[in-house]
Parts: sequence; C-alpha cells; structure tokens
Amino acid sequence: MAVKTSINHKNRLIFRQLLDSVSCTYTYLLGDFEKKECILIDPVLEHAKRDFNLVKELGLKLSYALNTHMHADHITGTGYLKKLSGCKSVISKASGAQADIHLEDEELFSLGNICLKVLSTPGHTNGCVSYYCEEQQMVFTGDALLIRGCGRTDFQEGNPATLYKSVHSKLFTLPHETVVYPAHDYRGVMSSTIAEEIKYNSRLTKNMEEFIDIMNNLNLGYPKQIDKALPANKVCGLHDIPEDISQNIVQ
Ligand code: FE2
Repeated sequence: MAVKTSINHKNRLIFRQLLDSVSCTYTYLLGDFEKKECILIDPVLEHAKRDFNLVKELGLKLSYALNTHMHADHITGTGYLKKLSGCKSVISKASGAQADIHLEDEELFSLGNICLKVLSTPGHTNGCVSYYCEEQQMVFTGDALLIRGCGRTDFQEGNPATLYKSVHSKLFTLPHETVVYPAHDYRGVMSSTIAEEIKYNSRLTKNMEEFIDIMNNLNLGYPKQIDKALPANKVCGLHDIPEDISQNIVQ
C-alpha cells in the first residue's frame, strides 16, 4: 500500500526534488493527488529505476517524462522510463529531438491540476525551455538559469546574447517570489527565487556585453559525456541500459 505523501492540500500537489550526484542534475516529480498521476522533469538514466520506484511508492502513475532540453552531460532517463511505465516523452519542438509530444513557446501543458506554461528560453541550446507553474509559483529553468549562474554557451547551439535575452525577457519578468528550480547545482543549493537571481546572479546582473565576455572566456573542458549523451538524447533516451552503465544504476 502506498505511504502517505507530503501534500500541499490547497492545490493537491505532490512535489519531490531528486539528485544525480554524478552530473549534479536535479530531477523533479510533480504529482496530482486526486488524479494519482505524475510527471518527471529531467530524469537521469542511472536514476530512472529509483525515480520509478518512488512513483510507485507514492501510489502514482507516471504519465509523462519531460526534458527542459537535449542534455549533453547525462543521458536522459526518459527512454528507459517509457519502457518501465509506458509514460510519454516530452521535449520542445525546437530541440530537434524525437519525442511522443513536442511543445512550443507559450503552450500550456496540463496534468490534472498541474499546469505548466512552456517558456522558450534558448541560448544554452536552441531548444531550451523553462516550465512555469503559475499557480504554485515555481519555474523549472533547465540550464537557462542556474542558481547564481547559467548554463554554458560554448557547445551545441550555445549563444550568450540569446541566453541573456531569454533570461531577461522570459524569466526575470516572472513574479519575483517565483521559486527557481534549475536542472543543476554544483554547490548543493536546491532552489532560488527570481528576486534573488535578479539581485545576486553573478553573470546575469551584468550588462549584455559584459555577460558575453564572461561566457566567451569560461575556458571549460569538453563535456565528458557529450559524445554518448547527445546521440541518445536526440532520440529521447535509451530503451535498454547498456552494459557499461548498468553497474551505475541506482534502485
Ligand atoms: Fe544542459
């Protein structure tokens, strides 16, 4: 029997933030208490079983696995979760990745009482979107806006000017109390707010020229997983777990 869950009774939302400590990726579970269904945002392959087990323990059905973008630092758990649960894969049309459902800017994506507005926030990649839940005052920003930082712009279709415009026009214009849930944090901080990032984001508080200069001089290494991750994520993940990854699977 499913255990009792922590619930926001007003809006009947079940919410969990899950971590992959290898790639420092956050996966989010949003569940509708009455419908007993949920979505996962940005699941990671190595943790797909863990996430699916949690979904079952909460007495929920996994209906959708969403990605904020085509990730380069890990393989999405979407493909494997489809096999485990029969859920549908979701990503932006602009990502160029295969999926069951493609989303476009300003589109509303709903499950029961959960309503996410798709905000196109390109710049880290062309297909980056943020998912804004107005009722719960939450925004899932992927790599467009990180806590006191942002995703890099030196590979895939990265473009610092585009990212700067996306964040300032689409995210910094949200209500300031909106809680920011990013796809990653490398210091263990789990959330922020739009107000905090407008005030303290070390890159995005600069003017655009300074921002572009910062982003063009990060001198970061070639992403370790990119050659494996991009081909897999282009087809929205793997149905089966390859031998070299199976030893890293978390139950
Ligand atoms: Fe990314």
